[in-house]
Amino acid sequence: MNALPLQIGQVKVPPIKCQGIKTKLVPFIFSSIKWTATEQARWVEPFLGSGVVAFNLQPERALLTDTNLHIIRFYQAIQSGEIHQAAVREFLFCEGEKLARSGQDYYYEVRERFNQFASPFDFLFLNRSCFNGLMRFNRQGKFNVPFGHKPQRFAPTYITKIVNQVGWATRQMKDLDWEFRVAKWQDVVGEAQPEDFVYLDPPYIGRHTDYYNAWDDSEAMKLSAVAKSLPCGFAVSMWLENRYRKNSHVVDCWSDFELRVCSHFYHVGASESLRNEMDEALLIKAGFAASNRGKQAVKKPKTEVQLSLAMDMK
Ligand SMILES: C[S@@+](CC[C@H](N)C(=O)[O-])C[C@H]1O[C@@H](n2cnc3c(N)ncnc32)[C@H](O)[C@@H]1O
Repeated sequence: MNALPLQIGQVKVPPIKCQGIKTKLVPFIFSSIKWTATEQARWVEPFLGSGVVAFNLQPERALLTDTNLHIIRFYQAIQSGEIHQAAVREFLFCEGEKLARSGQDYYYEVRERFNQFASPFDFLFLNRSCFNGLMRFNRQGKFNVPFGHKPQRFAPTYITKIVNQVGWATRQMKDLDWEFRVAKWQDVVGEAQPEDFVYLDPPYIGRHTDYYNAWDDSEAMKLSAVAKSLPCGFAVSMWLENRYRKNSHVVDCWSDFELRVCSHFYHVGASESLRNEMDEALLIKAGFAASNRGKQAVKKPKTEVQLSLAMDMK
């Protein structure tokens, strides 16, 4: 990648999942931003989460940070070669067998072990077998998501899927100048240089609050103030509105910026008639919004998962 906007074929998913993952929004983000990466320019992503945006973009140089040290350590372990496809296959095969034999008791044993030793392999195991794929840590920073109730979770096809995701993440960062770092956003954005581009995807205000996601109005306002003084281009993702509520923070703090909107349709339960809409905003610094706002075809996902049934650019 050396320039945005970019039309992307198929979005691929990394091995780690988290709340607010932007998989469905990647084509929208890539087609909305205008940025040409010069030789020294970096893609700066201070709220990395799963990394799905950076991994699909594959910039030559990147500064990828998050307060969640388990996410960062996991990707650092891929970068150093500690985590690789064969090791993941063997680990999940072995641990998956124990899970199949002992069910939730074994899940909680691994959770206990992870909370003591923080192995990135255990992090992957928990992330892919916990309830609803949630990532949540208590006040002491301990992972506290219950078991996903599937002792047969690590069937051979599922292990292969994860191993392939690890392989893809490994290839995407191979030989590239990417730095993964545990950091608060404030300590990272100050490093941005005029040629860089900063993509911000903070937690939703008041939602998913946990050890790594204490995001409130005052933090959100600080972010908007600091972003405004960045010497480079930036874009920030926010939810905009659904049929019940509007996000007043967008109007209060980000109204000076170029707005691009992407609508999700999602179903409540199994009924086609209960079709709800959520608008997601991308607010972009003036001069960094792509002019092409044509319709974008997005493949309809096979299953009716919340918040992602179909997507259409307004
Ligand atoms: C909405 S998620 C990012 C999702 C990501 N864009 C994706 O597609 O997977 C927000 C991330 O911000 C991180 N975070 C929360 N508070 C932070 C802070 N003060 N500084 C840096 N990162 C923070 C969380 O750990 C979480 O991974």
